[in-house]
Amino acid sequence: MIQTRFCSLVEIRHPIVLGGMGGGATGAPLVAAVSNSGGLGILGTSGMDGSRLRAEVEAIRRATDKPFGINHLLFEVDEERFSVTLDTKPTVASFAWARPDQDLRAYFDRAHSAGCKVMYMGGEVFENVRAAEAGADIIVAQGTEAGGHVAWMASMPLVPMVVDAVAPLPVLAAGGFADGRGLAAALALGAEGVLVGTRLLATHESPLHPNFKQAIVDSDGHDTVLTEIPDLASGRVWPGAMSRVGRNRFIERWAGREWAVRREQRAIAQAVADARKQGDAANAPLFFGQDAGLIDAIRPAGEVIESMVAEAERIIAERLAKLITRR
Ligand SMILES: Cc1cc2nc3c(=O)[nH]c(=O)nc-3n(C[C@H](O)[C@H](O)[C@H](O)COP(=O)(O)O)c2cc1C
Repeated sequence: MIQTRFCSLVEIRHPIVLGGMGGGATGAPLVAAVSNSGGLGILGTSGMDGSRLRAEVEAIRRATDKPFGINHLLFEVDEERFSVTLDTKPTVASFAWARPDQDLRAYFDRAHSAGCKVMYMGGEVFENVRAAEAGADIIVAQGTEAGGHVAWMASMPLVPMVVDAVAPLPVLAAGGFADGRGLAAALALGAEGVLVGTRLLATHESPLHPNFKQAIVDSDGHDTVLTEIPDLASGRVWPGAMSRVGRNRFIERWAGREWAVRREQRAIAQAVADARKQGDAANAPLFFGQDAGLIDAIRPAGEVIESMVAEAERIIAERLAKLITRR
């Protein structure tokens, strides 16, 4: 077993967290599968109303008695949804993407009063220091390799910079971590675990359409781009984010013609919604990270977690330990 301070803080067996992915990318079966396997499942809430969130939490609790978390995007935090989160008292209330003018402490204090540990994910050092100063218990340093909305810094320099900047708070590494090699590397960088998105999207329990899961398996990791097209198409302005997506027909059609996306936003949003429903992986944005190149099969989530831990243990205890020689 690999036990870190983070594992003790939230009382889990393995230092692996499911990123609280919104927009229908997480649901009760995936959250419960990760928590049941000894990691920490986090439910994304963006796009849900309060009653749907309550139903999801009930479904999670029917499927597991282990700790889990609920995620909110702070720039569009919805009071009804947030109240349901506080009311249902998950082990972890996780947050990301605050606007610069938002008072983080107000949200963190309310989560603490409900008995939750507070997790905050940022892609820049100052953003994570801001969350640490506002009282977060766990910081997630998200590198630009990640799938979905990201900033500019890569995990390799960002993670140790954040570890130093928020010490002694526990830090998780996110962005590009898909196997035991990544977990071992994150621990070597000073992180207390990893937060995983893309790898756990290509699992049996993931709610994505099978064609979208297959697109992750098919990607060699070299075909992602950072773009504003998905946000222009959805009409949502994230504070300072680009999104990392697979380069498909949808992206190629609009790249360099962002002005046209703004003009035709409503029609494009409808076409994307239709494509999503039909599982049309060519004509909807596919949010996944560069680590798609490390993913070659759709597997059960529990198997992914177990094999990440087993591989990391082997690397640390055998391969790395043997590199140390006594002269
Ligand atoms: C489809 C998708 C949706 C996401 N939605 C959210 C979200 O709503 N809130 C959040 O904090 N992070 C979100 N993320 C980011 C993940 O939490 C995580 O940081 C990222 O997936 C880690 O990098 P990886 O994809 O290389 O594992 C999303 C990522 C993806 C791929």
